[in-house]
Amino acid sequence: MATAGGGCVADPGSRSLLRLLSFCVLLAGLCEGNSVERKIYIPLNKTAPCVRLLNATHQIGCQSSISGDTGVIHVVEKEEDLQWVLTDGPNPPYVVLLEGTLFTRDVMEKLKGRSGRIAGLAVSLAKPSPASGFSPSVQCPNDGFGVYSNSYGSQFAHCRAFQWNKVGDGLAYEDFSFPIFLLEDENETNVIKQCYRDHNLSPNGSAPAFPLCAMQLFSHMHAVVSTVTCMRRSLIQSSFSISPEIVCDPLSDYNVWSLLKPINTSGTLEPDDRVVVAATRLDSRSFFWNVAPGAESAVASFITQLAAAEALQKAPDAATLPRNVMFVFFQGETFDYIGSSRMVYDMENGKFPVQLENIDSFVELGQVALRNSLELWMHTDPMSQKNETVLNQVEVLLSTLEQSGAGVPTVVLRRLNQSQPLPPSSLQRFLRARNVSGVVLADHSDSFHNLYYQSIYDTAENINVTYPAGQSPEEDLNFVTDTAKALAGVATVLARALYRLAGGASFNDTIQADPHTVTRLLYGFLVRANNSWFQSILRPDLRSYLVYHPDSGLRHPCLLSHRHLLHQCQSR
Ligand SMILES: *[C@@H]1O[C@H](CO)[C@@H](O)[C@H](O)[C@H]1NC(C)=O
Ligand SMILES: *[C@@H]1O[C@H](CO)[C@@H](O)[C@H](O)[C@H]1NC(C)=O
Ligand SMILES: *[C@@H]1O[C@H](CO)[C@@H](O)[C@H](O)[C@H]1NC(C)=O
Ligand SMILES: *[C@@H]1O[C@H](CO)[C@@H](O)[C@H](O)[C@H]1NC(C)=O
Ligand SMILES: *[C@@H]1O[C@H](CO)[C@@H](O)[C@H](O)[C@H]1NC(C)=O
Ligand SMILES: *[C@@H]1O[C@H](CO)[C@@H](O)[C@H](O)[C@H]1NC(C)=O
Ligand SMILES: *[C@@H]1O[C@H](CO)[C@@H](O)[C@H](O)[C@H]1NC(C)=O
Ligand SMILES: *[C@@H]1O[C@H](CO)[C@@H](O)[C@H](O)[C@H]1NC(C)=O
Ligand SMILES: *[C@@H]1O[C@H](CO)[C@@H](O)[C@H](O)[C@H]1NC(C)=O
Ligand SMILES: *[C@@H]1O[C@H](CO)[C@@H](O)[C@H](O)[C@H]1NC(C)=O
Ligand SMILES: *[C@@H]1O[C@H](CO)[C@@H](O)[C@H](O)[C@H]1NC(C)=O
Repeated sequence: MATAGGGCVADPGSRSLLRLLSFCVLLAGLCEGNSVERKIYIPLNKTAPCVRLLNATHQIGCQSSISGDTGVIHVVEKEEDLQWVLTDGPNPPYVVLLEGTLFTRDVMEKLKGRSGRIAGLAVSLAKPSPASGFSPSVQCPNDGFGVYSNSYGSQFAHCRAFQWNKVGDGLAYEDFSFPIFLLEDENETNVIKQCYRDHNLSPNGSAPAFPLCAMQLFSHMHAVVSTVTCMRRSLIQSSFSISPEIVCDPLSDYNVWSLLKPINTSGTLEPDDRVVVAATRLDSRSFFWNVAPGAESAVASFITQLAAAEALQKAPDAATLPRNVMFVFFQGETFDYIGSSRMVYDMENGKFPVQLENIDSFVELGQVALRNSLELWMHTDPMSQKNETVLNQVEVLLSTLEQSGAGVPTVVLRRLNQSQPLPPSSLQRFLRARNVSGVVLADHSDSFHNLYYQSIYDTAENINVTYPAGQSPEEDLNFVTDTAKALAGVATVLARALYRLAGGASFNDTIQADPHTVTRLLYGFLVRANNSWFQSILRPDLRSYLVYHPDSGLRHPCLLSHRHLLHQCQSR
């Protein structure tokens, strides 16, 4: 195979990772005329690669060879089209342009089986999102890293009761020997398809004549390119704080935490100091680098928690409540609960001001934006409640939540069968260390309502964040969506519950989360990070980070390090 002879048009210095070569003759010897003059490169600008991930023993994901991988383009729009690339086509290797709806485990297995004929894969974004759902995560997320195992609560281990993420096909945990890219822009996809139609389709179904349209895929250098992006992104995440005394985990992970009442962070709290923990996660993931919108899997929840924090802080007696409240935003939970396990480890070793024994109760927000009707489900752990003391504490926690919800007509709190295990959650990492009384609030009673868990389709549209056509960005920013109202309801319940749990009594039913805050946060994190509000609340030296990407929705944090995973951010 050749990307053919010296003197190819030089790389125009573009930063793109995927380039479309048209008129390039691919098979040495069959080249007609002067290939140099006929070779035209069209760089593709809006693409995202699948990247390589490593842990101590395995590798998953993909990367290209150092010089890139080149192949004749073949467009696969329906399953029958695969025949050509898998067996019939005379000019392998092929770069397959795969219709988004066909990016399934079945099809990918077939391509893996003939990897010698496949130089790479470019996947177009399905529009609208696949109706039956798509999740490259597994059906039982974080299995093996939570509290249930073969030796503890084995009846709950490995999602025996039911799969939380029913549509998960595990693609994100597979290893591929060829590069895979996402084509994010429809117009660019059409450029490739046009080139394919012009050069690679023969009118009568026979082998097309040269020259052919080919594609070259580069992703080898991606880790280097992306370290900066990753670092910037973490900076934004950790600087977007709810109170000034934000502190980051000192070692590479960026959990964000903050206390309602400031404490001396040089030491540890006294054993009888009580702290109510409100927790959620910051991170999300998808099959493709830098595309992890996580609207339902993370953004809606951390926004709800931010809104609850704002509401609680406005309570006139917030500074004098008998118990403190700690808001935590865990980072890296997708990968083996990196963030929460680190915090638990630090608490156990006296390296964190709050100790496990200080935890009075633990309220976690799971996925909350896709409530059917008004229900918000309270998930608890059956194992710890075998101890009567814990059982009673959990009962107090649940009834406090119910009382707090009573004054909020848009939210109905519901209990679950006590013999149902917790969904994947940070609380599980705390329960491994101590039987804290805790609850996970979620929109689902059993399997996720989210049909796009950790996929490219978990976007604003997935949680119904849409705006009337023709509005200006400024109007969109301030347009209160139904989703914002619904999440503000959840935030109000959370804030009131935290207030009561912290021992407050005077303002039980006046604490109120602001739908305007919620709607602006949704806009900022899911639609456009560079908006006038984010500009106005960020420190001047951080503002430039809002515009690092031309179509910048502030996408999701990547992870910086892990005991087991050598992360994608690390350059080789
Ligand atoms: C990508 O950007 C370059 C430079 O702006 C442009 O020449 C090229 O046509 C773009 N590629 C596509 C497929 O639109
Ligand atoms: C590495 O990842 C593989 C595949 O996900 C998993 O089976 C294995 O247990 C992991 N190894 C370690 C040491 O975490
Ligand atoms: C695609 O091209 C059409 C027509 O040229 C244009 O109106 C549209 O904005 C383009 N879409 C994107 C996402 O650039
Ligand atoms: C198909 O068309 C090509 C030219 O487009 C021609 O060379 C070839 O003979 C045709 N094959 C058949 C089987 O008709
Ligand atoms: C914080 O705690 C440290 C160590 O316990 C102590 O030396 C320091 O004086 C305290 N600071 C304040 C402001 O109380
Ligand atoms: C989202 O919008 C659709 C269409 O308007 C509606 O049917 C659906 O119930 C909404 N979902 C939620 C969670 O609000
Ligand atoms: C139950 O939990 C309480 C508080 O965590 C603990 O003090 C007690 O020893 C536990 N009882 C049993 C029987 O394990
Ligand atoms: C709770 O679940 C268990 C086991 O799945 C079942 O036997 C029991 O009947 C359920 N209880 C209620 C009240 O639904
Ligand atoms: C929590 O309680 C259960 C049941 O009482 C007990 O088996 C388990 O060891 C406790 N866990 C911890 C971390 O103490
Ligand atoms: C507020 O809530 C607390 C705890 O749930 C309760 O003890 C108190 O009576 C309530 N106060 C009012 C005024 O309702
Ligand atoms: C970022 O947002 C600010 C305020 O809305 C605006 O003035 C500026 O032009 C934007 N920058 C980019 C690159 O879009």
